[in-house]
Amino acid sequence: MYPLRRNRRLRTNDAVRHLVRETILTPSDFLVPMFVVEGKGVKEEITSMPDYYRLSLDNLEKEVKELWGMGLCAVLLFVKVTDNLKDNKGTEALNPEGLMQRAVKTVKNACPEMLVMTDVALDPYSSYGHDGIVAHGTILNDETVELLTDMSVSHAQAGADFVAPSDMMDGRIISIREALEEEELFNTGIMSYSAKYASAFYGPFRDALDSAPVDIKNVPKDKKTYQMDPANRFEAITETQADIDEGADIVMVKPGLCYLDIVREIRNEVDVPVAVYQVSGEYAMLKAAAEKGWLDHDAVMMEQLIAIKRAGANIIASYFAKDAVKLMG
Ligand code: PBG
Repeated sequence: MYPLRRNRRLRTNDAVRHLVRETILTPSDFLVPMFVVEGKGVKEEITSMPDYYRLSLDNLEKEVKELWGMGLCAVLLFVKVTDNLKDNKGTEALNPEGLMQRAVKTVKNACPEMLVMTDVALDPYSSYGHDGIVAHGTILNDETVELLTDMSVSHAQAGADFVAPSDMMDGRIISIREALEEEELFNTGIMSYSAKYASAFYGPFRDALDSAPVDIKNVPKDKKTYQMDPANRFEAITETQADIDEGADIVMVKPGLCYLDIVREIRNEVDVPVAVYQVSGEYAMLKAAAEKGWLDHDAVMMEQLIAIKRAGANIIASYFAKDAVKLMG
């Protein structure tokens, strides 16, 4: 009771604040998303993601070496596929010489110890911009799962340490796990996007990969029949528990900031590592506000990342990873 208890005593100076700090960010908390394109010497800035780039394989190699030198030890790869290689079934996704498969090899050659995770979903390969196969105005579940399973095996064979299915089809984790076991890829892990919401915060990412759902007849305009309703909380636990039961090694909540209640709930509920994806729209919002001089970029960035970790994230996928680590000095 006051004055015996003066709560401000523990905030008097930096030294005591550090001493009692409960949450500390380190480079090993981060998973760095990377966008890969065909070509040579390509480093294209993504319009809606200032300071973030699409890289060709040669620049990917340079970048991962730099990341490794900074203590960033895990990357999450996405590819931008040229239009002529897109179809409804994501045929190109299974090409052993496809861009993703070459990207995995490039990272592993440049930096053998870098942990490589690959995005598994059809959208970058889909002429309709959906995570699954489209038929009669719907997204087919089981046919899509078969494809995602083959895709996962292909990524694992190329050398991926983890596959990261981001599609939200039902039953894909067990199917992928069984196929990996069958191929004796026992050590390939699965990071499942388990509680992935149908969020408007993915806009800039869809610009980055040119992967937004197309506006044509008989193609759903959004992903609401597979991604979760932002209004739901219990469902996040059901989805996550199902993925763990099916064999997911790491589960994920996505997006980040608007969903930190879900992160805390999942963290309390399960005992596998929990990843949080601070998505492209979250990145874009801060960049835009900072550009206008309305927010202090670095301070807000660190506050947001700390909040994500404090909420229960064990792993943070973030476009700010490099900037944050630079500030950690
Ligand atoms: C697609 C995928 C998306 C993201 C990661 N994987 C977009 C979507 O579901 O439409 C979003 C990432 C971001 O916004 O940063 N399978």
